[in-house]
Amino acid sequence: MSEPLLLGLETSCDETSAAIIQGEHQVLGHVILSQDVHAVFGGVVPELAARAHLQRVDEVVREALRQADRRIEDMDGVAVTAGPGLIGALLVGVAWAKATAFALDLPLVPVHHMEAHLFGPAIEDTEAGPPFVALLVSGGHTILLFAQEWGRYRLLGETRDDAAGEAFDKVAKVLGLPYPGGPALETLAEKGDPEVHALPRPMLRSNQRPGDSDYFDFSFSGLKTAVAMLVKELEDAGRLDSERANVAAAFQYSAVDVLASKTMRAVEETRCRRVLLGGGVSANRSLRTEIERRLAGDGRVFYASPRLSLDNGAMVARAGLFHLRREEVRALDISADAKLPFPGLLRGDSQ
Ligand code: KG4
Ligand code: ZN
Repeated sequence: MSEPLLLGLETSCDETSAAIIQGEHQVLGHVILSQDVHAVFGGVVPELAARAHLQRVDEVVREALRQADRRIEDMDGVAVTAGPGLIGALLVGVAWAKATAFALDLPLVPVHHMEAHLFGPAIEDTEAGPPFVALLVSGGHTILLFAQEWGRYRLLGETRDDAAGEAFDKVAKVLGLPYPGGPALETLAEKGDPEVHALPRPMLRSNQRPGDSDYFDFSFSGLKTAVAMLVKELEDAGRLDSERANVAAAFQYSAVDVLASKTMRAVEETRCRRVLLGGGVSANRSLRTEIERRLAGDGRVFYASPRLSLDNGAMVARAGLFHLRREEVRALDISADAKLPFPGLLRGDSQ
């Protein structure tokens, strides 16, 4: 029997994306349309995101099917991001998937956006499966977890305020860089010296111990404020232009140090030297190389290629395939949920 064909649809934020996958590793068609309407506002405007999804979703799916040389009727299931994300944006994808599943009598599989990021690397790399420590870093989430097996996760830490990607975006904005800020900030940071300006490492102290409530957790809002104050100081002194790259480098150095240090704590705690990086910030080269360096060749770091690290339909289809095989197919009563809980994620030592 041939491997199942799945359509994956992603509309949780500002990418409209659809993919056709066959089995676990074949991406037959994949379209990622990044909405450019938000650039002038310096951030995602939820109503505009929803409208742009609505305008483009049909043609994005049609193009993915055309690339795959398949018809929608050929699909064995439709997977869609049901949350978390912007509610208006999510609703477009969920309504589209429900209507299609109903019209063609296809199984409908709701997918959690951050669990989909966990599956991103597994599309290209057959080795990128549990057990692993995962650092999920995106525009809305920062989650450190241990995956015993697919569908069974233990939460180790998360952010108490801003997400890592949000910090990159906000710092980029303070430095006058275009939206989305993460990639632009990384490029600028490469031209700077990270040691000219000292910035704090929030929630990272050497006297923390495993059991302390903040041992694995993150906080990025203080770092963002520290950068804003430094930028103001440099501006007042008329030195901002010449220091911009150094500030970007110092911020990235500090954020990466915190992310890598907490990840290594998780590696020690779980005695698992396989680390998976997922979510948009996992595209950051300095984060990837720092974690590789700290594992010192003894262990593995998994991350997806840039196209599969950022929001995309292929990871949604891949996560959907896992749930389809477990017969976690839903009736047409599913709805979009901006705060959808992570499936299979247990807190603390409960597994
Ligand atoms: O996963 P993602 O595409 O969307 C969400 O689920 O939020 O992540 C987007 C986030 C944005 O905050 C963006 O600035 C950040 O990922 N990002 C990066 C890089 N590329 C994207 N942050 C740091 N360095 C990068 N190269
Ligand atoms: Zn994402």
